Amino acid sequence: MTQILHADKTGVTRAAALLRDGALVAFGTETVYGLGADATNAQAVAAIFHAKNRPRFNPLICHYPSADRAFHDVLANPQARHVAEAFWPGPLTLVLPRRSDCPVALLTGAGLDTLAVRVPGHPDALALLRAAARPIAAPSANRSGQVSPTSAQHVLDGLQGRIAAVLDSGPCRVGVESTVLDLSGLAPVLLRAGGVSVEDLVACIGPIQRGGAHDAAGITLRSPGLMVSHYAPGLPVRLNAATVAAEEALLAFGPVLPGARCLFQLSPSGDTTEAAARLFEGLRWLDAEGGRLGAGGIAVMPIPDGGLGLAINDRLRRAAAPRGG
Ligand code: TXA
Ligand code: MG
Repeated sequence: MTQILHADKTGVTRAAALLRDGALVAFGTETVYGLGADATNAQAVAAIFHAKNRPRFNPLICHYPSADRAFHDVLANPQARHVAEAFWPGPLTLVLPRRSDCPVALLTGAGLDTLAVRVPGHPDALALLRAAARPIAAPSANRSGQVSPTSAQHVLDGLQGRIAAVLDSGPCRVGVESTVLDLSGLAPVLLRAGGVSVEDLVACIGPIQRGGAHDAAGITLRSPGLMVSHYAPGLPVRLNAATVAAEEALLAFGPVLPGARCLFQLSPSGDTTEAAARLFEGLRWLDAEGGRLGAGGIAVMPIPDGGLGLAINDRLRRAAAPRGG
């Protein structure tokens, strides 16, 4: 059963306690209802993908009660400080480089070196974020493929029984998602149109690219709202490994194949939610450790498609796909 909490002091305190315990709590913001989890707890973040039935890991937005708190976890440049000053709290999300000591789980940002951060403009959301006292990852609180919810009832229509609670703060004022602005590169790039208009952003910081960013060779790195560049390990990845070669590092799932010198276990019991929580950490670790030990590649044991297995396999197939182009 999903608890319905009213956004008074008692409800906010209860919702914050649930979040700190690793539970999922939907909450109202000025844009849409978000499905919140402790962003520093990879297992809780994996549960978001499970509850939404999302077939892919896409990077999630981290919510903070103030710009100061947000810029604790990401590196702010002068442009970021400028727009934060002008539009936060409000329907704007900024993509910035993670700080090296950023405590946010890698799964929250789908393994990327950047993190999307936002200070929402709803007093109940801010009260919850202050009480939770940690970054809260929150995609829109709908099942995958359904429209974003703008009331607590919409949330329950899609997620009743799948989440611990919903904090009811009434209907959402803006009703569309936040604008996503990438300030991590040389020029600002609009990744998603939303609650703050592009005109207002341009008036604040000058020209903003909309057609996606290009690298020095003119290759498109991103398309607005559609795609983000994905983390890929440096070592080649081999899927569905039934054996492991002497020079391979192993990404294990369940009972380990014999012979691996360098190994990262996603889930000894074969639990796909636990495996999802450890996936990006595992790929990064094997890349670094395997590389140090002179491994020639990463062998990945088969993972079933059930639960979060589908999203894990989607991610692994992309990591294994031929590079370049
Ligand atoms: O209004 C909103 O933004 C709502 C409320 C709950 O805050 N949240 C929301 O989250 O719409 P979601 O997960 O549905 O959308 C997040 C968007 C996606 O388009 C995602 O690709 C982009 O933000 N995003 C997140 N992290 C990113 C990153 N590191 N680089 C590029 N894009 C990123
Ligand atoms: Mg969404």
